[in-house]
Amino acid sequence: MSDYFHIRDVHKDFSGLKVLTGASFHVREKERHAVIGPNGAGKTTLFNIMSGKLKPSCGAVVFKGKDISGTQPYVLNRRGLSRSFQITNIFQELSVFDNILSGVRSRHELRYHFFKRPERHRDIMDKVEAIVEEVGLADVKHQPASSLSYGQQRALEIGVTLSTEPELILLDEPTAGMTRDETARAVKLIARVTAGRTLIIIEHDMDVVFSLADTISVLHYGTILMSDTPEKVSCNQRVKDAYLGEEAAC
Ligand SMILES: Nc1ncnc2c1ncn2[C@@H]1O[C@H](COP(=O)(O)OP(=O)(O)OP(=O)(O)O)[C@@H](O)[C@H]1O
Ligand SMILES: [Mg+2]
Repeated sequence: MSDYFHIRDVHKDFSGLKVLTGASFHVREKERHAVIGPNGAGKTTLFNIMSGKLKPSCGAVVFKGKDISGTQPYVLNRRGLSRSFQITNIFQELSVFDNILSGVRSRHELRYHFFKRPERHRDIMDKVEAIVEEVGLADVKHQPASSLSYGQQRALEIGVTLSTEPELILLDEPTAGMTRDETARAVKLIARVTAGRTLIIIEHDMDVVFSLADTISVLHYGTILMSDTPEKVSCNQRVKDAYLGEEAAC
């Protein structure tokens, strides 16, 4: 099994409440991997552990052969891992362009000790323009984030995630609260911007999961019930009993 990204026997307690009780799964490089599970199953807790916001009580998160458990998110960013939150985390008062610019600049300053040379400046501006275009916000790039629709704000959030040039992207319920149309647009956007990258997505909407994921891990009572292709997961009796129900297409 590849060791690109690996959750190994992760446990997490919150003052005695056992939320994760030995969760393990592997993600291959360039795979689109979805984590599903009922409300309160511990998906966001797992997400926070994968992205360094929380430290596991025991167990490990391994990225490219290194144990990154509890490593600060900004350090993980430099190593190529970028996350987007279940709760929108963009700067509301800044324009679309400036939100993305702040991410691109942080990446370049960290990597190159960015000097104020005009050609470097041009480079950065071109990168910001390319991301604005990629997430479909060119028409509103000078507007403050606060003036955008909910779907556009989530697209901006994905743009901010891309601004650090990640190879591994973690998304926690990127379509939560969206209309059907916004969700369809978001799925296309996520498929496009994660091409050639690795994606781990936590998602409730099964249409989204089945249109994006190559592999699905089912989180149930703190452990991973199974980790397999969408076809195998949707046909598995234990998964139907625990989560999907009998109507799951199979
Ligand atoms: N910081 C915390 N302190 C105490 N309990 C917590 C904390 N964070 C999460 N929990 C508890 O852990 C359990 C799992 O929560 P979590 O948010 O990880 O679930 P989830 O699967 O993401 O749920 P949802 O589907 O609603 O997004 C819940 O019972 C929650 O109340
Ligand atoms: Mg959650």
